[in-house]
Amino acid sequence: MRRQKIILGIETSCDETSAAVLSFESAQDGKNNERVQILSNIVSSSALLQSKYGGIIPEQAAREQLKTIIPIIKEALEQAKTNPSMIDAIAVTQGPGLIGSLLVGVETAKVLSRIWNKPLIPVNHLIGHFYANWIERENASTPLGNNSSLSEEQKNRSNTTTPQFPCLGLLVSGGHSDLVLFKNHGEYEYLGGTRDDAAGECFDKCARLLGLPYPGGPQISKLAEEGDPKAFKIPRPLSNSGDLDFSFSGLKTAVSNLVNQQTNWSASQLSDICASIEQAIIDSLINKTLLAIQTNDVEQLIVAGGVAANKKLKSSLELALATLPRAVRLFIPPPVLCTDNAAMIASAAFFIEPAYETLDIQANPNLSLAY
Ligand code: KG4
Ligand code: ZN
Repeated sequence: MRRQKIILGIETSCDETSAAVLSFESAQDGKNNERVQILSNIVSSSALLQSKYGGIIPEQAAREQLKTIIPIIKEALEQAKTNPSMIDAIAVTQGPGLIGSLLVGVETAKVLSRIWNKPLIPVNHLIGHFYANWIERENASTPLGNNSSLSEEQKNRSNTTTPQFPCLGLLVSGGHSDLVLFKNHGEYEYLGGTRDDAAGECFDKCARLLGLPYPGGPQISKLAEEGDPKAFKIPRPLSNSGDLDFSFSGLKTAVSNLVNQQTNWSASQLSDICASIEQAIIDSLINKTLLAIQTNDVEQLIVAGGVAANKKLKSSLELALATLPRAVRLFIPPPVLCTDNAAMIASAAFFIEPAYETLDIQANPNLSLAY
């Protein structure tokens, strides 16, 4: 016999306002056989408004959150054909993020939890990103590398459409670049992360230097399609450091120096520099990810965060994993679940977080993955 649970997720950590309704079906005997389905996942972004100013203005992002949060929650419930009485719990992003934006989601969730009499589950946004990989979809991943050495049990494990533990997590978002070893739901070890800028931040800052609009990742990636990734010499900081840390600020400085040396960029030069930047970021990410896979002996890699929407990162990871002596299964969510969304928050809430008394929860802009 299977049990069903319905969770309303709310995400307002930055410039996206999102609400989602997810259905979770699990066998009575535990959480090893869950079906996680999206009934609705509505995302409204103020990025276009922010792009006029070249980046996010926190007060403006919070004002937009306030305007949109209630209509977005209503739309999510309507599209999922649910009403409050059908909801089992409300999940909300507690942090990290912009305090004004976070407060809108957390306080709205607290009020709804009170008036609808539903448990409230606070979710760390960074953990939430990883849980986009547990949402059901066809052919979620492909096994890469040499799998002839795998036992039957290992082959069966690698055929499932959701990740199995232990798995390595690579988070690449606008504010974070981290490597984490997941041992179970809610049980993880922080392995390393960026010492300065995040991968997404590096894309955004380089785009700004080149006069491209915010958010820079998709812009650079589009122009890079026509460019030569070897055209400009861009450094790969910390590539031989032996640890699992990243550094992207030197890369941005190198781009700034190139931009200062030359004022007029032809279309093909712009494509070339975009391709060179993208390649340098991807090389840095893959270098440490492969090291983490080898030192931790994992068979599964889950990638998450806005930069995971980058097509070149996905194809380069596939190529790199295929060179490993042992099969490693790669999970990357579809692009709409890589960037900020509430479905991932509801998914994380189901698997890991305990419910709280509604008034105990406070927005926390400084939550992290490192203990
Ligand atoms: O995870 P996310 O939506 O928000 C944060 O939690 O930070 O990530 C946003 C970041 C931005 O820096 C954006 O430029 C980057 O993800 N991004 C991309 C792509 N799509 C979004 N970077 C590279 N290629 C993309 N296709
Ligand atoms: Zn995010």
